Amino acid sequence: MRILVTGGAGFLGSHLCDRLITEGHEILCLDNFFTGRRQNIAHLLQDPKFELIRHDVIDPFKVEVDQIYNLACPASPPHYQYNPIKTTKTSVMGAINCLGLAKRVRARVFLASTSEVYGDPTVHPQDESYWGNVNPIGRRSCYDEGKRCAETLFFDYHRENGVDIRVVRIFNTYGPRMLADDGRVVSNFIVQALKGENLTVYGDGSQTRSFCYVDDLIDGFVRLMNQEKTVGPVNIGNPGEFTMLELAELVLKKVGGKSKVTNLPLPADDPKQRRPDISLAKEALGWEPKVPLEEGLNRTIAYFRQTI
Ligand SMILES: NC(=O)c1ccc[n+]([C@@H]2O[C@H](COP(=O)([O-])OP(=O)(O)OC[C@H]3O[C@@H](n4cnc5c(N)ncnc54)[C@H](O)[C@@H]3O)[C@@H](O)[C@H]2O)c1
Repeated sequence: MRILVTGGAGFLGSHLCDRLITEGHEILCLDNFFTGRRQNIAHLLQDPKFELIRHDVIDPFKVEVDQIYNLACPASPPHYQYNPIKTTKTSVMGAINCLGLAKRVRARVFLASTSEVYGDPTVHPQDESYWGNVNPIGRRSCYDEGKRCAETLFFDYHRENGVDIRVVRIFNTYGPRMLADDGRVVSNFIVQALKGENLTVYGDGSQTRSFCYVDDLIDGFVRLMNQEKTVGPVNIGNPGEFTMLELAELVLKKVGGKSKVTNLPLPADDPKQRRPDISLAKEALGWEPKVPLEEGLNRTIAYFRQTI
C-alpha cells in the first residue's frame, strides 16, 4: 500500500514509518518539523519506498494513497502551549485536510487522538464510553479540545460522507526518540538522572500515570487500521499504574548517581489519576501491551545515554 503518515518525523510517527517500511509499504512522510527531527527518519531517507514531504497540515495537500495516519500535532505541554492557537488549528484543520483527502481518494484515515479527551477524569479507569471532564478555557484546552473537535470531525465525515475512519485514544507512551527537553515525565526523569540533576516531581508525587512502550503502541495502531469491524475510538495504553514517585525511584535505581527527588507545585489542570481500560482493544484487536516498564525503561535509558 501507499501510506501517508502526517507527523511522520516525530517520536511516534518515525516508529510507525519504521514498522510500515518493514512490512513492505511505500511511505509518504509529511511533517513541518515543529517538534519532529530529520534524525528520527535519517535512516529511511535512502530507501526508495520512503518519501519525505515538508508541509504543514493546516494547508491542504493532494497525494494518491490507500491509507492515512494523521499524527501531526505537538504532544507535550511546552510545545502545544508555545503557540496554542496554532495547536488548535493543527488538530482541526489537519483533521479536515486529512478527511477531505481521504474522501477524495477513498483512503482509510486514522486519527491519533489522546487520553486528554478525558480531561481530569471523574471515573477510573476510563473506558471509551466516558465523555470526559475537560476545562474548555484552560492552558491545556488548545490540545484537549483540539483533539475532541478532531474526533467530532472524523465521526461526522464518517456518518455524513461514509469516510472510512479509525480513531485511537493514546495514553502516555515512552521510548527512544522522545525529545529530551519536552517536559514529558519519563524523558524528564531519565535526562535529569543522567545529568546528575535532581528529579522534579510535581505536587507530592502521588498522582498516577500509566506508561506504554512505543513498540506496543505502534502494534495497536496497525491492528486497528487493518481490521474491518471497529472504527473506534479505541483506548491504547498500558493499564499498569505507577505514581510519579514510584517512577522517579525506579529511574534513579536504574541510572544510578547522586540525584534525588525535589517537589514543585502542581501545574493547573494536571490530572490526578489516569489509567486506560483496554477491554475494547483486547476484544476487538486482540491487542495488549507486552513490554514491561522495567524493560522499556532500559531501552529508553540506553537511547538517552547515547544521545545526550
Ligand atoms: N506520545 C504520547 O504519549 C501521545 C499521547 C497521546 C496522543 N499522542 C498523539 O500522537 C501524535 C504524535 O505524538 P508524538 O508523541 O509523536 O509527538 P511529536 O511532537 O514527537 O510528533 C508530532 C509530529 O507532528 C509534527 N507536526 C506538528 N504540527 C504540525 C503541522 N501543523 N503540520 C505538519 N506536521 C506537524 C511535528 O513536527 C512532529 O514531527 C500526536 O498527534 C499526539 O497528540 C501522543
